[in-house]
Amino acid sequence: MANRFLYTSSHSLLRSQLQPLASSALSHRCRGLNSAAAASSGISDTKAASSRPLTTREREFLERAIRVNQAGELGANLIYEGQYAVFKSDPRLRPLIRHMWDQEVHHLDTFNKLIAKHRIRPTAMRPLWNIAGYALGVGTALLGEKAAMACTEAVETEIGGHYNDQIRALLDMLKDDKELLKSGELRELIDTIRKFRDEELEHLDTAVEHDAKGADGYVILSTVIRGGCKAAIWISSRV
Ligand SMILES: [Fe+2]
Ligand SMILES: [Fe+2]
Repeated sequence: MANRFLYTSSHSLLRSQLQPLASSALSHRCRGLNSAAAASSGISDTKAASSRPLTTREREFLERAIRVNQAGELGANLIYEGQYAVFKSDPRLRPLIRHMWDQEVHHLDTFNKLIAKHRIRPTAMRPLWNIAGYALGVGTALLGEKAAMACTEAVETEIGGHYNDQIRALLDMLKDDKELLKSGELRELIDTIRKFRDEELEHLDTAVEHDAKGADGYVILSTVIRGGCKAAIWISSRV
């Protein structure tokens, strides 16, 4: 499968950035590492036991990460919902979109639980992301299958990179704290993000397999959507 992905520079760069974190959805090694994470993806209602209380910096990181991730997963859900509304009578695309959407439903549900568990304020931008996400899904699907896939490719590239940045920051934050690295709220967050990151990269692979780059106006479409995602991530982590 990898041979089909002779990505242009941006994708090559993303892939190379992801590799040190064992991130690629194509990596068997990564899948092995993540089996434990998959098992722990169900968020418990009780607080994960930490060896010590989180510092202010760690707590702020946790809150910001969960807030922005919930917003991102909400947006992803609405994009796929919009695409599904357009492609639901297409026997080939319907199950494909449904499968990715189902995974996004699980991602959003998980971050909804984490928001409640840690009593974190959700982003105030949710009403706007609701409208923008659905409009983006419907709009690109109406342009055709390749444009819808170009949208998926752009969004999942940004989300995959965003999750990798968070994993990197968390591992760096905990590098000198072996106990906290093994258990607790931040360990739970790392495991959750790793599992979801791999699924986002599967969505990215699916989009490329379905000729995302063959969409009319691909470069403009991809640039605009990726820019929008970056802006949404930046705003949602702060507002
Ligand atoms: Fe997701
Ligand atoms: Fe995704």
